[in-house]
Amino acid sequence: MLTDTTSPIEPAFEVQNFEVTKEELPAFEDMPFEDIEELPLEHPGARDPEYRKRRDYIASLAKKFRETGEITDVEYTKEEQSVWQHVAGELEELHQEKASPSYLQAKKILGISNDRIPQLSEMNKRLGETTGYRLAPIEGLVNTRAFLSWLSWRTMLSTQYIRHHSRPGYTPEPDIVHEAMGHIPMFTNPNFADFSQFIGHGARMANDEQLEGLGRIYWFTIEFGLVEAEGDIKAYGAGILSSFKEMKNAFSDNVERRPFVLEEVIEHEYTYSDLQPILYVAHSYKELKEDVRRYIESFGK
Ligand SMILES: [Fe+2]
Repeated sequence: MLTDTTSPIEPAFEVQNFEVTKEELPAFEDMPFEDIEELPLEHPGARDPEYRKRRDYIASLAKKFRETGEITDVEYTKEEQSVWQHVAGELEELHQEKASPSYLQAKKILGISNDRIPQLSEMNKRLGETTGYRLAPIEGLVNTRAFLSWLSWRTMLSTQYIRHHSRPGYTPEPDIVHEAMGHIPMFTNPNFADFSQFIGHGARMANDEQLEGLGRIYWFTIEFGLVEAEGDIKAYGAGILSSFKEMKNAFSDNVERRPFVLEEVIEHEYTYSDLQPILYVAHSYKELKEDVRRYIESFGK
């Protein structure tokens, strides 16, 4: 029988995190990143010069952030807004049916609208009020250690540009739909925020092999995690929650849903492919947290 006894509002993610004061925070100027000005050819926007120009402009705002520490709002175009409206509208019903209760609660608390793209500045403010997490604009994918390490400073790196309009259901890289619809809501939940921070601590302590394991845990939980809830299986991973194709795929016969076993997950090489063939279902957040804590506490021993 499926047993999720944790409250949907407060999944038991509590871990021992040390407090971070403003003075202790590393400077944003030191943030490592990869040069991503050249989009790979398989990117739907790669052959659209207008899109590339726009994406480069929005990415430049992230560079500016590292100099000023101030988030610049983006004046999104009508076309960009319509991509958001399309995806958000499609996701709404799927979320009600298949998203985990903690995500639905978090989405409400964040207060984003299906009608317009939320600004990082306003979501940053909301996180400040709820859990003290912060958003830092970034122009694309950064390496695993850098991305995860920032979590230990209660900071999530977030892109601001939006996917190409020709394929609203797909993006080969993180974009504002993935961040704002998938990742950011969960950071309003204190237990999730602490869990993320704990993973960040792990990334700072891990050797290269452990980091690879931690990256896979991150992938199969925070990105593509499923959990037993309400006598059913629900999604809490951002990669699923921000994509209507993944939402439909995750619960279809095309996917093998395996029980989450940490020892197996850390050995499981994943792909960035469009649709995930294998997903892991956590029995409960509580067990997941315990397993991950045990793993991270083994680092350095
Ligand atoms: Fe992500």
